[in-house]
Amino acid sequence: DRSIKIAPSILAADFANFGAEIKAVEAQGADWIHVDVMDGHFVPNITFGPETCAAIRPHIKTVMDVHLMIAPVDPYIDAFARAGADVITAHVEAGPHIHRTLQAIRGAGCKAGVALNPGTPAESIEYVLDQIDLVCVMTVNPGFGGQKFITSGVEKVRRLRAMIGDRPIHIEIDGGITPETAPLMAEAGADVLVAGSAVFKGGSVADPAPYGANIRAI
Ligand code: DX5
Ligand code: ZN
Repeated sequence: DRSIKIAPSILAADFANFGAEIKAVEAQGADWIHVDVMDGHFVPNITFGPETCAAIRPHIKTVMDVHLMIAPVDPYIDAFARAGADVITAHVEAGPHIHRTLQAIRGAGCKAGVALNPGTPAESIEYVLDQIDLVCVMTVNPGFGGQKFITSGVEKVRRLRAMIGDRPIHIEIDGGITPETAPLMAEAGADVLVAGSAVFKGGSVADPAPYGANIRAI
């Protein structure tokens, strides 16, 4: 299925109202829900862990797409799987054994994703293509929402699309997606667009209509 999916990142939602925010954004057309887990070590910010993921899971009808910006990853895979993640994405930079990590994610019953920081080449995942269901191309340095799009991601997506060939692997873009940058990524071959600030801006749980307008504008 190569149709473009929009995955709002709850990093840009009201942290005191995740359940209601998720329901609102799904009702407004979100395809997946993107969940950013940060540890204050791999990235210079801290969000939340598996217990928050478990708490929000019942509010998600679509796909719970968990992006782990943590190191190490392996000790926490089972906890995020038990929390109900559909996709667990680990960074290739987060440790020396990405192949083992991806096998463990699939072994826990989840789809396995691998994320690449802006400075990491597409070729770094050449030998794990048969271990993944998704590759996440970061078009900002991970850690914060609302940053400026790094344009080298367009070329990286093209390379990945060629490397992937016929394999059923999603290409996800994360960071700085707006109505201006989204078409570049879709044209290069991405099929899942994560968007935080561009989806949640101007709306609220009390007035979620802007979420829908923002999603349709992407
Ligand atoms: C960044 C996160 C992103 C972030 C995107 O570390 O992985 O998912 O929420 O936010 P925007 O869309 O505002 O760049
Ligand atoms: Zn993310």
